[in-house]
Amino acid sequence: MGNSVLEKVFSVKNDDRKTHKVVTVLGAKIKFKKDGIKSLKQKIEDYKIMHDSSLYVGIPKDITLQLMFNSGCNSKCKFCYVHNVNNKNTYLMPKEWVYKTFKSIYPYTQHLVPTYGEITFGAEGYNYLNWITQNYPHINIFMESNGIAFTDRWAKMAAKNLFNVNFSVNAVDEESYKKTVWEKDGIFTLIMNNIKHYLDVLKENGTSMFKPSISCVLNSSNYHNTAKFIKMAAQLGIQKVIIFFDAKENSVERLSVKDKEGFYNALITLIELTKLLEKKMILGFKLFIPICNIEEYENKVKNTSIEELKEKYSDIWKLAKDFDYYENYKQKVEKYKEYNKKPLTYYEEKTGVTYHQEELKGKIICTNPWKHIRLRTSGLLDFCSWRGYKSNIYIQDFIENGLLNVEKLFNDKFYRRLRKDFAKGCYTNCLKNCPGSRFFTKQEFEVKYKAERC
Ligand SMILES: C[S@@+](CC[C@H](N)C(=O)[O-])C[C@H]1O[C@@H](n2cnc3c(N)ncnc32)[C@H](O)[C@@H]1O
Ligand code: SF4
Ligand code: SF4
Repeated sequence: MGNSVLEKVFSVKNDDRKTHKVVTVLGAKIKFKKDGIKSLKQKIEDYKIMHDSSLYVGIPKDITLQLMFNSGCNSKCKFCYVHNVNNKNTYLMPKEWVYKTFKSIYPYTQHLVPTYGEITFGAEGYNYLNWITQNYPHINIFMESNGIAFTDRWAKMAAKNLFNVNFSVNAVDEESYKKTVWEKDGIFTLIMNNIKHYLDVLKENGTSMFKPSISCVLNSSNYHNTAKFIKMAAQLGIQKVIIFFDAKENSVERLSVKDKEGFYNALITLIELTKLLEKKMILGFKLFIPICNIEEYENKVKNTSIEELKEKYSDIWKLAKDFDYYENYKQKVEKYKEYNKKPLTYYEEKTGVTYHQEELKGKIICTNPWKHIRLRTSGLLDFCSWRGYKSNIYIQDFIENGLLNVEKLFNDKFYRRLRKDFAKGCYTNCLKNCPGSRFFTKQEFEVKYKAERC
């Protein structure tokens, strides 16, 4: 290839005034300020990313929209890591956005996850979700609530619209609530009464298969209540329990644990109960786990027989032995169809919808950068709950004539670059040990989430 031909394909030259570099890539000329080779390389990289057609997704049809709808809360959980919660300046996401600007995204939204602080706090959360159910009934709503203000009208709206609800209960009785969560009289009882009322409303509505899950933050104040918490769920007929290891007390980044013995005992209890309750209940506990190698712990219970576990946890076994999680899921699918809603996949049912794993070119990868939006009240944007907000981009940059330009957003270099990395299994800045980044072969994934007794 002669020099002149090569120059047409790729060259870097000064412009006439010598204030810019002109880069030619495949005949296209791009002009850059002379601000150093690093930034030049970055710009070339950006150019390639923006012109790589394999990274283009158009408008995804199955978006998960996770909105930090407000930053206020009616609780004062000791472990809460959410910024601005309980701050006197309670921020609401601008009404203009949620009722107008996002109209362009709702038709493509499959799951709405309003969270952070507390959606039931103040009138607007109810009004907003009610508006969504009336105008976009295809959207599945996933609520996470402390349950304090989950009153009858919330219970009715949730039951009538097949909400997936998680109650962050975090304790097993009044005393443990005060110790771990908030030292205020009567709150635990209030929450439990609201949950029981919701279970009654679900029954009346014929949608008991949509029983909520309950969750517990575990730390040195309540590790010893791990089995009791799961027993409490089973007593309520609840088949899904989520455990969050306290991300404030421990450090997932540094893999440091404050109370090693308590943590170890709680983890082994969870692994044992997972083994015992397989197909009966779902126990999710792998988020914020401050260890490097969960298999090492799983191996410790490998040789413990089911008979031993039945004896050790006889009270839980008695309550849960007739539960059948998959059967319940199938009933949910029927209800979704009856209500003209798209059923959740079994993967979504088991894991929730804040991370997404799918097959891409024969590999199972985390596909959050393909379909997930996570938004703060300020408009700060990211694509996952478990990484903090690492981006520096704002939804305001994608609003045109009062509407969100969804195609522009998902095909911005921010999402494109992430898709490029994730497709290679490169999860920079992700939560250590995130279950979403766990490597599965296609067959393992099918067995775990798809083929199960279908
Ligand atoms: C921040 S809250 C927001 C939603 C709602 N206010 C609630 O409490 O369910 C979301 C979830 O994070 C959990 N959480 C709060 N602080 C935590 C911490 N330090 N470590 C792990 N999970 C935590 C809560 O228990 C809750 O289940
Ligand atoms: S209820 Fe939720 S948002 Fe409110 S303080 Fe507790 S964990 Fe934080
Ligand atoms: S792998 Fe990363 S993006 Fe995916 S769920 Fe985990 S932390 Fe989030």
